[in-house]
Amino acid sequence: MTSVSRRRLLTGGAVAGLGAVAGAAVVAAGGQPATIPVAQTGDLGTATVAFHGPRQAGVAEEPPAHAAFVAFTLAAGTDRAALSRMLRLLTDDAARLTQGIPALGDTDATLAGLPARLTVTFGFGPGLYAAAGRPSPVAALPAFGIDRLEPRWSGGDLLLQICADDPLTVAHTQRMLVKDARPFAAVRWVQQGFRRSPGVQAPGHTQRNVLGQLDGTANPRGDLIDTAVWNPDGSTTLVVRRIRAEIEKWDILSVADKENATGRRLESGAPLSGTAEHDEPDFTALDASGLPAMPDYAHVTRAHVTDPALKILRRPYNYDGAPDPAGHPDAGLIFASYQRDIARQFVPIQQRLADKDLLNAWITPIGSAVFAVPPGCAPGGWIGEQSLS
Ligand code: HEM
Repeated sequence: MTSVSRRRLLTGGAVAGLGAVAGAAVVAAGGQPATIPVAQTGDLGTATVAFHGPRQAGVAEEPPAHAAFVAFTLAAGTDRAALSRMLRLLTDDAARLTQGIPALGDTDATLAGLPARLTVTFGFGPGLYAAAGRPSPVAALPAFGIDRLEPRWSGGDLLLQICADDPLTVAHTQRMLVKDARPFAAVRWVQQGFRRSPGVQAPGHTQRNVLGQLDGTANPRGDLIDTAVWNPDGSTTLVVRRIRAEIEKWDILSVADKENATGRRLESGAPLSGTAEHDEPDFTALDASGLPAMPDYAHVTRAHVTDPALKILRRPYNYDGAPDPAGHPDAGLIFASYQRDIARQFVPIQQRLADKDLLNAWITPIGSAVFAVPPGCAPGGWIGEQSLS
């Protein structure tokens, strides 16, 4: 353990060195110089992701372990001037907190010191553009036959996707942002999710979801993310779907049935037509009995897209709420996907899955929302500046 004094951090430029040292920024709100003991177990706590840039953070990076998706409803009468005041404030908070610096007026400044790869990603729903008197780049999704949507998990004028490798960092960031948004907007819903924690499995390995499947194998990577996700101006779009997993029904399936529903092996993640996780699925291959190795109705068969410009970047988090009194689980995915254009990329895939996907017997969409993700901003700028001014 080591200690970092508040005075040194305030006077010695230690903030600029965050990420390089195993120390934590401590800028107490007042009173005596504070010291915080910080673990010297690597850079996990002090690691930062740049906030400023032409594209928002929190999209293309490897997802941190914890997330809160916080959706707001704008207060009646919130106009463009009020929106710009709110977004300047929230941008300033996010720019500071993501770099391990307390927000202005931070009531618990010590909690800001370990950003743990914190990102805050802003999404604008159609209602925000309506309030600003601007055309919306996104529209509500069509209704799908499989939807059992609940208003308490759906819609939203503004979304803040808060991600970090530490749940206390996420909680503190959420508290600061909600406090500053409060004069302008009411919290509509919050969805908290998790993935594997860093260090529990080798880097680069695909995580498993609550159904035990390797989830993320066929996601675009590297330059292919640019093709699928980013518009030339640095904007993108986000779909958030809360999808309940019928885990107890899933539990009684055999491994073979689970694999047929998915189109991939449970253990290795290999397509049923291949042997290794990253083998390309072969939809023409036949199994020993002469049937397609990749079943026609399997999730992967139905969801597969070959054109790199039509793929989506899935960035799901698991959720696991309190079981009901009888002990039945409340778990599933906060399915989040980024793509340039929801109508061209997401909707056709979701429609094919809604029409026939064996997995539908074990998953139920109970929430849904769409957001435009405006470009990032430079220091001194604010998120939404181009689209709303
Ligand atoms: C609880 C809900 C869901 C579960 C458990 C689930 C699970 C999976 C799994 C295990 C895979 C194979 C591994 C991989 O490539 O990641 C996969 C692939 C995929 N899923 Fe889902 N998924 C869900 C919902 C969705 C939704 C809502 C969409 C889009 C509308 C979607 C689109 C895709 C796509 C595009 C692929 C890649 C297909 C390929 O090209 O191989 N999934 N999903």
